[in-house]
Amino acid sequence: MEKIKVAVIGCGTIANTAHIKAYLANPSAEIKYFCDTVIEKAEKAVSDYGCGEAVEDYRELLKDPEIEAVSICTPNDVHAAIAIDCLRAGKNVLCEKPAARTYAEALEMQRVQHETGKVLNIGVVNRFNTGVNIIKKMIGNGELGELYHIYVSFRSQRSIPGLGGAFTTKAIAGGGALIDWGVHYLDIVMYCSGDPQPRTVTGQTYSKLGRDMKNYAYLNMWAGPPNYAGTYDVDDFVTAMIRTEGPSITLNGAWAQNIGVEEMYIDFLGDKAGIRLQYGADFKVYGAHNGALLETTPKFKSDNMFQNEIDGFLSCIRTGEKLPSHIDTVILSSKIIQAIYDSSDSGAEISF
Ligand SMILES: NC(=O)c1ccc[n+]([C@@H]2O[C@H](COP(=O)([O-])OP(=O)(O)OC[C@H]3O[C@@H](n4cnc5c(N)ncnc54)[C@H](O)[C@@H]3O)[C@@H](O)[C@H]2O)c1
Repeated sequence: MEKIKVAVIGCGTIANTAHIKAYLANPSAEIKYFCDTVIEKAEKAVSDYGCGEAVEDYRELLKDPEIEAVSICTPNDVHAAIAIDCLRAGKNVLCEKPAARTYAEALEMQRVQHETGKVLNIGVVNRFNTGVNIIKKMIGNGELGELYHIYVSFRSQRSIPGLGGAFTTKAIAGGGALIDWGVHYLDIVMYCSGDPQPRTVTGQTYSKLGRDMKNYAYLNMWAGPPNYAGTYDVDDFVTAMIRTEGPSITLNGAWAQNIGVEEMYIDFLGDKAGIRLQYGADFKVYGAHNGALLETTPKFKSDNMFQNEIDGFLSCIRTGEKLPSHIDTVILSSKIIQAIYDSSDSGAEISF
């Protein structure tokens, strides 16, 4: 069968660490374009990977009828505009998470997906994680009994990314810890619990530790170094409570906090058993049997979730299969994240 010609838009960290390698490892794909507004980055990709053509403006590759698939690996501010242009040009799209800066932008992307019928998957890569899928199966099989609550913690001591840059500028990123890290955690919660509809959302976000940029002390900074002339107007801490038609959910997240213990996990609480998933690692199952308390750490071979995500994207272009990363499912977490920000701004609970 003819190879699927691919364009990668945005040749930064996630493109180089995940998307490009996964396309190169899939025999049904061929990368035809690397696109970046910083053309040197696109040219470097051409030379590093020995394929493709470098372009500065994504509109160039939209004109090429051979291009069937596009990965959008740009900062969040241009996700919606590029995805919509690509869909309208007849391309199938895998757009990095979060879908967009706001729920309104994500809804517009979904509307254009419905209008064009082309694939629009979002980079909620944990839906392709082996351990996460085992947990989903266990919950679905009733092995936890009634799943009544999910407790989420993604709290790091001082891990603000790229202080003063795209990640900490609301106009570009749409938000901070909640939209950048929380989107992955909330997505795992939604996926494993069957994507339940939210009923009410209350939340509070804080922008505290990074505000005084010059005096922000830290050990490591990804996406750095700091740009002290830049902007810091996003949340570095969030707390929220979500009621759904299924379990209730509480979450606490911090890019930065004055507590030196990192807690990155999700607790699934059932009346028969509970699961603690350490983010990006293994999980433990807790229960009781014959009057004894049980604790198990399942062992399994983990696939590369980014490879699964890209393989799934390429294959669904041919088969028409609707993957769990389709905009129609991801839209729910986008709605919840927006409601947390809106609740924080208004000081009131949001009801649906
Ligand atoms: N799935 C994950 O786990 C994961 C991990 C990291 C980042 N991400 C997401 O990936 C996206 C990119 O993050 P990153 O860390 O790779 O950022 P990055 O800054 O390293 O790379 C982004 C690249 O996009 C380019 N760019 C900006 N505007 C463009 C445009 N209009 N056209 C073409 N290129 C453009 C920039 O020049 C840059 O090279 C973000 O949305 C982020 O949330 C996802």
